[in-house]
Amino acid sequence: MKFSYVNPTQIHFGQGQIEAVTESIPSTSKVLLIYGGGSIKRNGVYDQVTAALSEHQWVEFSGVEPNPTRETMDKAVAIIKAQGIDYILAVGGGSVIDGSKFAAAAAKYDGDSWDIMTGAHQVTEALPLGCVLTLPATGSESNGAAVVTKAATKDKLAFITPVVQPKFAVMDPDVMKTLPERQLANGIVDAWVHICEQYLTSPAGAMVQDGYAEALLKNLRVLASQFDQRDNDQWRANLMWTANQALNGLIGAGVAQDWATHMIGHELTALYGVDHARSLAIVQPHLLRNQMKYKRGKLEQMGRNVFGLTGGDDLAEQTIVEIELFYHSLQVATQLTEHESDKAHAIDAVIGQLENHGLLELGENQSITLSESREILQMAVAD
Ligand code: NZQ
Ligand code: ZN
Repeated sequence: MKFSYVNPTQIHFGQGQIEAVTESIPSTSKVLLIYGGGSIKRNGVYDQVTAALSEHQWVEFSGVEPNPTRETMDKAVAIIKAQGIDYILAVGGGSVIDGSKFAAAAAKYDGDSWDIMTGAHQVTEALPLGCVLTLPATGSESNGAAVVTKAATKDKLAFITPVVQPKFAVMDPDVMKTLPERQLANGIVDAWVHICEQYLTSPAGAMVQDGYAEALLKNLRVLASQFDQRDNDQWRANLMWTANQALNGLIGAGVAQDWATHMIGHELTALYGVDHARSLAIVQPHLLRNQMKYKRGKLEQMGRNVFGLTGGDDLAEQTIVEIELFYHSLQVATQLTEHESDKAHAIDAVIGQLENHGLLELGENQSITLSESREILQMAVAD
């Protein structure tokens, strides 16, 4: 184990915490409030945020779409540059926060903003950013990652740098009251897969990372089994905090990480519009089977410690079946049906995009080449 670890995002967790925005943003700042399609106008979050900004100078930018695009965020960058904005407040889910991170970096760069996503521009500075989270799922509220899509070419790419990590994150579980069931289920599944991407690799005997990952996975199982009690303060608070802890850097410190499910899933979202979490459930079980040679040990550990399975030679296989049942219990499918073309054409399209994006050797062992990705997609794409 060898790592450097810090998570500098100040978390303001709990009911009523939106008012912490006032103290968290320097009073002399000129703020751009960025939000999505308007859910915050319907559930009172916008009113609470603007009340908290009443002593600040601020303007707003709305219309960030799920799976944010550079086309939309470039419009926010133009406002930032024209109006001398020096602080961004993102109010929304992962899409609004990721789009805001992109804008924060693009505001300090005079070239083509897409260079940030391709790596042609290495981000070293960005505007400071804070956020009010409205959908627990991605962990974007306290990490340095962002995923942005170029709509023109259906490229969905990620970048990661500490300079765009939010300075603070308000996490008030009350904001979840208006979340549709579909988004709550998505949040559980996305957080679940984030943990798996950092846990289902090769056994390394990292007791803290493994033990905490298992605790978080067990939380998500309990919350899913109590889905009928979702209109409950405790349920909401536990999901919000669990999803945050799943991707804030802690359980991934010093251990191998996979992320192949995410990389292939991003292509499904970009090509077929599948919700992010749903793209993961479509890919992951098939990927785990394909990579059994490397993942058997950790799947067995997960079977015992998370699902309470007792064993047998097929413990790892049983664990994957349990993972599938977990997704199905949330009405989340494990095969792609959203492709309009025939199966062979859909697989070729995904493989083509993986190739375009240089995603030729995925996973903790770089063992998922395009030929393994093709085998995975053979199982993941419905006829
Ligand atoms: O746009 P509005 O009107 O706000 O509606 C949103 C959106 O339609 C709605 N919503 C959010 N909060 C709500 C609400 N509706 C009612 N009440 C509320 N309180 O939910 C819809 C989905 O929102 P979105 O932000 O797209 O969802 P999510 O948080 O799942 O974010 C997904 C994006 O994050 C990326 C994904 O790729 C995807 O683009 N990810 C970011 C990561 C990161 N930065 O670390 C990691 C993840 O693996 C993921 O890739
Ligand atoms: Zn994810």
